[in-house]
Amino acid sequence: MKAAIIGLGAIAPVHAQAIRRAGGHIVAVCDIDKDQAARFRERAACDAPLFPDYRALLSSTDADVVHICTPHYLHAEMILAALQSGRHVLCEKPLCIREQDIPRILHAEKESGKKLGVCLQNRYAASNLAARALAGDSPRAAFGSVVWERGVAYYRSGPWRGRWETEGGGVMINQALHTLDLLLWIMGMPDTVIASTENRHLNGEIEVEDTASALFRFRDGRSFNFFATTAGGADMPVQITVCGNGHTITATPDTLTCDGNVQHTAAGKPIGKTVWGDGHADLVADFYDAIRSARPFAIDGAEAAKVVRAILAMYRSAGREVPLSEGG
Ligand SMILES: NC(=O)c1ccc[n+]([C@@H]2O[C@H](COP(=O)([O-])OP(=O)(O)OC[C@H]3O[C@@H](n4cnc5c(N)ncnc54)[C@H](O)[C@@H]3O)[C@@H](O)[C@H]2O)c1
Repeated sequence: MKAAIIGLGAIAPVHAQAIRRAGGHIVAVCDIDKDQAARFRERAACDAPLFPDYRALLSSTDADVVHICTPHYLHAEMILAALQSGRHVLCEKPLCIREQDIPRILHAEKESGKKLGVCLQNRYAASNLAARALAGDSPRAAFGSVVWERGVAYYRSGPWRGRWETEGGGVMINQALHTLDLLLWIMGMPDTVIASTENRHLNGEIEVEDTASALFRFRDGRSFNFFATTAGGADMPVQITVCGNGHTITATPDTLTCDGNVQHTAAGKPIGKTVWGDGHADLVADFYDAIRSARPFAIDGAEAAKVVRAILAMYRSAGREVPLSEGG
């Protein structure tokens, strides 16, 4: 598999390593920032040709698959351009940050006949897979929490962070998206949400929320709660608890507790930061296998759009109960 990477910042070396582990070969890379590109080439030991403009890369490379690792506001336009250039696309989360981009992306995915995948890699963690299997088809209740620390230095590390226009939100669309996605994957897509978002510790520094809480409800009476903050003082293990199938199950990135019995599920050190989880290698290998064997890839555009819709509904809610889809 010949791969290109667009966006050579913090997450790009994780993709480079995952591409190689999956038997892929990096044939082109792109970044508008020469220093970022130089750092990436050294950290990832990569000498593939560098393009400062992604459209130039798309028109001249023979890559089969394009990995998009750029800031959130660029995902939609880059996915569309890469699919239209006839490449398979693996995009970092979130799929996009605006509701109106979802149908455009799904249409382009269908028209192109190429695969679109999104990096929701925590679905590959052994603890989360086991929690989903144990909880059965329609768990009756659940809770998810993300308590991490992101301070001023983090937000100043990239001009796109902390702004509605470019990040599309705060703790929910960036850090907590993975954990909310796990609950949607296990519980199904709820009908409504009542949510509130606040800026508790970085007021004046960032526009977006650093803390959020939500109650998601289903028409059949089931529900789940969610809490997320980046005012946590430290990065604590994210956690989901699910009540279903007669069990109470709690999964963290490396443990699974079922009805009080604790099991360790992770082995070794992840290839990126510990808080990112270690699913990138598994996800990229699965995506490439789906391309090679012409089978569906589970986390496609429609699947990745679910958590974006849920988060955009949280932002719309402002304490009122609102439907998850904008149309009602
Ligand atoms: N799946 C995960 O667990 C995980 C973890 C970290 C980051 N991410 C996601 O990865 C993406 C990138 O995050 P990051 O932390 O690496 O950000 P970053 O700011 O470190 O890197 C982004 C890079 O994109 C480059 N860029 C900006 N505009 C560009 C353009 N027009 N063309 C080409 N390059 C451009 C920047 O110069 C920068 O090098 C985000 O979507 C983020 O949410 C996902």
